[in-house]
Amino acid sequence: MNPNNITSKYYNLVSSPLKGIDVTDEEIGLINRLVPNGSNILDVGAGTGRHSLILSKLGFNVTAIDSSRPMLNELKIRDDKKLINVINKNIYKFNTTDKFDLITLFWNSFNEIALTKNNALLLLKNLKRLLKPNGQILINIDDSSSIDPAAFNFETIKFDGELKYKMKWTTSKYFAKTNTSVSREEVEIYKGDKLLDSRVTFIKQRYWSFSEIELLCQICNLKVENYSLKTSNELYLVLTTLSK
Ligand SMILES: C[S@@+](CC[C@H](N)C(=O)[O-])C[C@H]1O[C@@H](n2cnc3c(N)ncnc32)[C@H](O)[C@@H]1O
Repeated sequence: MNPNNITSKYYNLVSSPLKGIDVTDEEIGLINRLVPNGSNILDVGAGTGRHSLILSKLGFNVTAIDSSRPMLNELKIRDDKKLINVINKNIYKFNTTDKFDLITLFWNSFNEIALTKNNALLLLKNLKRLLKPNGQILINIDDSSSIDPAAFNFETIKFDGELKYKMKWTTSKYFAKTNTSVSREEVEIYKGDKLLDSRVTFIKQRYWSFSEIELLCQICNLKVENYSLKTSNELYLVLTTLSK
């Protein structure tokens, strides 16, 4: 089972103090620099649709894919005009003749999906096949050189009406050799002092550095460029095809 299923219902609220609910203006600016409006975008690991929802409303033709049905259910609730083509599938099993101008993997989707070097290579090769000529892949991940994946711990608190949503994220296991962690995500919902709901899940991630992505890209014949955004200390890597 996809571990995100357990906390999906609260994802938008508990992650909003950290990430906001939607894509940032600077992220939209970057996408507008990369592709013209109306382009076909595949949002991989789209989750609750933080990016898919805004991009579809702006006029992009968005396909959102995620292996967690409950995460996509949250997206569908907010996609009132049914603008998004929603696919509940493991990206490794996604087969289509559709081709995309831009494939996005926002907020560590790449880290959750590509847990090993072999997986990362397979993923990049599969995504490359889904690109139109001159298509691009945008990978947004935490910059592992600016955080400590071995002890990446934080808490968020969000108030919504009478309810308080608490999230505690702690590294529960860390494997230095592969820079892989298992993080414990605990979500608690309170009304006053009364605990209404509590959920715990464990999310596995492989932290990829810029130089590792560069190496993967070399093997896959992709060129990689690092776009730094003023409002974020994360990596925004744009991959383009060097050869067919
Ligand atoms: C950290 S969340 C990011 C969600 C969203 N992109 C955002 O920025 O809020 C990673 C997402 O990747 C999805 N995911 C993990 N493995 C996947 C796979 N093999 N295929 C498709 N989606 C996957 C998870 O279900 C989760 O929704």
